[in-house]
Amino acid sequence: MQLLRPRQDLTGLKVVVSAGPTREYLDPVRFVSNPSSGKMGFAVAQAAAERGAEVTLVSGPVNLATPRGVQRVNIESALELRDAVVQSAQAADLVVMTAAVADYRAAEVKTEKEAKGGDTKTIELVKNPDILAELGTDKGRRVLVGFAMETHAGVERAADKARRKNADFILLNYPTQEGTAFGGDDNQVTLVQADGTHEAWPRLSKREVAERLLDRARALLAARPE
Ligand code: CTP
Ligand code: CA
Repeated sequence: MQLLRPRQDLTGLKVVVSAGPTREYLDPVRFVSNPSSGKMGFAVAQAAAERGAEVTLVSGPVNLATPRGVQRVNIESALELRDAVVQSAQAADLVVMTAAVADYRAAEVKTEKEAKGGDTKTIELVKNPDILAELGTDKGRRVLVGFAMETHAGVERAADKARRKNADFILLNYPTQEGTAFGGDDNQVTLVQADGTHEAWPRLSKREVAERLLDRARALLAARPE
């Protein structure tokens, strides 16, 4: 498949990819997180770099090697992710948000380890900033791509997210498909646009999903006025 694509067709483009989970610390030794493996984002970063783009990969804690030629920035919390992405996105042509950003963080991060207390415990959380939406408010020429995992009403919810966040498209998937999504090497996604138009892709390797995503983004960039 790859040989059919023109090589180095992303030369001169700056691409920012976020990947992996965030960790929202409660105290120095405990955090709220999720099982995102980072594989999808690393596949996008690797494919973009091999096609000639200048790639910054902002990654949460994952167990993956940095693809060759990619500049990696490691972060833990959503607030750190936001700072790193917003900064590198200034000069970017394309931003792909595959990171599984925690929606909430602890209202107060304890500076010392909390001892065990009573039989129940309540933790107050506050909402994290929506990074994709923030990039969407001052979009310029950039192409913005998001990912969403939904358990129900996927197309409707993903289209609503594309609208609210001003994303060019969202790649939607479901957590239930074996070998796909969290931790798997394959992905079965549906490309969803803000107007609700959608297109289901077959089950593909994450690398091939990345290649198709980049094909789409490249076409959108080429169609934009300078
Ligand atoms: N996203 C983001 N910042 C956040 C939350 C999500 O940039 N604080 C991005 C994700 O990286 C992803 C897209 O938004 O590309 C959709 O993520 P999702 O969690 O599905 O969106 P939410 O708006 O958080 O919706 P939900 O309430 O369904 O979790
Ligand atoms: Ca969310």
